[in-house]
Amino acid sequence: MTDGIPSIAERVVRWQKEHGRNHLPWQNTRDPYRVWLSEIMLQQTQVATVLDYYARFLQRFPDVRALARAGQDEVLALWSGLGYYSRARNLHRCAQMVVSGFGGVFPRTVDELASLPGIGRSTAAAIASFCFGVRAAILDANVRRVLTRVLGFGDDLATAANERRLWALADDLLPDTDLESNMPRYTQGLMDLGAGLCTPRSPACLLCPLAAVCKAHRDGNPEDYPVRTRKLKRSAQSWWLLIERDESGRLWLERRPQAGIWAGLYCPPVFEDREELAQRASHDAAASLQDMDVVAHVLTHRDLYLHPVVMQLSAASSLRRGRDATDGAGFYAASEWAALGLPAPVRKMLSGLPAGR
Ligand code: ADE
Repeated sequence: MTDGIPSIAERVVRWQKEHGRNHLPWQNTRDPYRVWLSEIMLQQTQVATVLDYYARFLQRFPDVRALARAGQDEVLALWSGLGYYSRARNLHRCAQMVVSGFGGVFPRTVDELASLPGIGRSTAAAIASFCFGVRAAILDANVRRVLTRVLGFGDDLATAANERRLWALADDLLPDTDLESNMPRYTQGLMDLGAGLCTPRSPACLLCPLAAVCKAHRDGNPEDYPVRTRKLKRSAQSWWLLIERDESGRLWLERRPQAGIWAGLYCPPVFEDREELAQRASHDAAASLQDMDVVAHVLTHRDLYLHPVVMQLSAASSLRRGRDATDGAGFYAASEWAALGLPAPVRKMLSGLPAGR
């Protein structure tokens, strides 16, 4: 650290020590397994939600070898409710690659970390800086907001060249002394500023350690940053779920294909229209179909409307179907769902069904 006017990095590091978050369960460790797990969970999920999942995950899988050995079903079951399940599948594959390709020890460079499934450039930099003091910039959505405001970077980030320029500027701002101690603090400090003060609306500039050097604050327009023109187009889709219930109230669940929405999770059979569903249901002439309330579920790029249709099976019909050893399809009691991994909206929907006859 130098005397005179403090640099941006110095301001962030000093502020983090005093005002940042320093007692989260994935801090005060340099174990890359723990840091990696937290960063993946935090990619699209709030800290408050992650806390419970993180503790449960670590209890069941205390190290990368334990996770690599587990079956995918169990990993997905423990992830159930966190959403964005590709994160869980990548997490599992990543653990297996760390074991098979790196002898069970996480690599230390950003490039090697970023070569693993589910670890992008920013996550790789976070792990490398937190665990190994590597001088590497992160640029997740929160940090992007902080840096574009401080720098007054108003160019459109939908353009790859502008995005590259911002990465280069983020590199320039990194601490350049005592990296072992300053890099973790700086990285965490930017995250803390983005989450706590430099919010999308009504940022708390009066409390911000960067206000004195922030171009957007000086110009009075922090909410104009970051600039990104391309808007995601949202689409809508309807799914009909055939909920077959046997005489003892168990429901028929099958594993979803390995690609697409809810890949690898357990779910009642899904149909694109109700006709198709009725056709599949026609195997039991004595059964009745009951349409339940539609459930709307918001995914990243689309709204999914779930139409549950309950089919109460006759005793004879349910007897004909056992549990399928290959893809796990079968009748499951509610007490077995937790161990399976069901998409959260499906679990909620099934738990709320009125009792059968
Ligand atoms: N979001 C992503 N990484 C984080 C971290 N280390 N602490 C708090 N929030 C985060």
